[in-house]
Amino acid sequence: MDGRPVDPESAWSGYAGATRADPSPGAVKRPRSVVVRVIYNRRLRELRRDVMSAKPISLTRFLIQEQHAGHINADLRLLIEVVARACKTISTAVGKGALGGVLGDAGTGNVQGEAQKKLDVLSNEILLEANEWGGHLAGLASEEMEHAHPIPNAYPKGNYLLLFDPLDGSSNIDVNVAVGTIFSVLQCPDGVIEPTDEHFLQPGVAQVCAGYTIYGPSTLLVLTIGRGTHGFTLDREQGSFMLTRRDIRIPADTQEFAINMSNQRHWHAPMQRYVSDLLEGKQGVRGKDFNMRWVASMVADVHRILTRGGIFIYPADRKDLSKPGRLRLMYEANPMAFIVEQAGGAATTGRSRLMDVVPTGLHQRVPVFLGSRHEVETATRYHLEHDSLPA
Ligand code: F6P
Repeated sequence: MDGRPVDPESAWSGYAGATRADPSPGAVKRPRSVVVRVIYNRRLRELRRDVMSAKPISLTRFLIQEQHAGHINADLRLLIEVVARACKTISTAVGKGALGGVLGDAGTGNVQGEAQKKLDVLSNEILLEANEWGGHLAGLASEEMEHAHPIPNAYPKGNYLLLFDPLDGSSNIDVNVAVGTIFSVLQCPDGVIEPTDEHFLQPGVAQVCAGYTIYGPSTLLVLTIGRGTHGFTLDREQGSFMLTRRDIRIPADTQEFAINMSNQRHWHAPMQRYVSDLLEGKQGVRGKDFNMRWVASMVADVHRILTRGGIFIYPADRKDLSKPGRLRLMYEANPMAFIVEQAGGAATTGRSRLMDVVPTGLHQRVPVFLGSRHEVETATRYHLEHDSLPA
């Protein structure tokens, strides 16, 4: 109360549904002090509601609410919290840059023969260390490790499998451009205590959770547990991820594409036709001008699409016929496909739904077409039309 005198008329007007002109004849007239208290409490409740709705909720609170609503169990909630905590540590290391002594090559190569950066190795260690002893996992698999890593017997075990690309966009680390962590969570098959590679080979539709963290001007976590896609911003002072975009939606149409054009000469015929139609702009069959953006960190390119729409393509090409695409199915394409579909977008291999691909290897590659639904459908149609032509 602010101590100001209360007009009895206006006090009456706030009383339990009665109106000034027409206090209901049967209503019991309460003492003025009671009426004032009713108004005071009601205003307090309104004020509290306004303050609460203006303040973003934390990831912890969001996950607890999802658990109370029966959408996730406590183990999955805690697993996501552990991954998020590890990502905060990676964010700090990335943010220190040269001051942390973490830039440059590690002098080693990963299982795919790619040179590892120091931050690749460090991020992998951070995620491994944080998740090993949490008690929610049966095993882990990473871009940086040839085989799956079962949880050591010294630690309690859980029922989930975690796959991750610890630091996506490695070529951008040393040039201070956004990089990120991508992760996917599967259920460990019943009765399996020590999961090996084969137990991770489940199609994308089996994912129970997927997410990525992007270490850019701000650090963001984008997450789906199969009930929409939600974005959280790291409050660096508080050390908490705060929900800043609930239920992200990707526009169905777009005029922006993301592709590494330097590979054009290696593309197959339907890709050549699709991109050349985009480039013809308003005068061509598509009847509109397209813009192009390419960060070369999948997390950043996908995040732009979640922000304003677009199509991201990394097709198969003729550069190296032993590689059916550039991106890895299990810890890059599948989690991104899950996130994009949950935001109303689409994700295909250029021919069929990405999350239906039945995996055959932990590090297998796959062509990726994802983003604004209508545009992904168009690009996919170009491929299917090409396939139906007589040989
Ligand atoms: O492996 C992943 C990645 O760094 C992606 O983040 C990115 O989209 C792609 O490779 C870029 O590869 P390139 O520079 O060879 O086109």
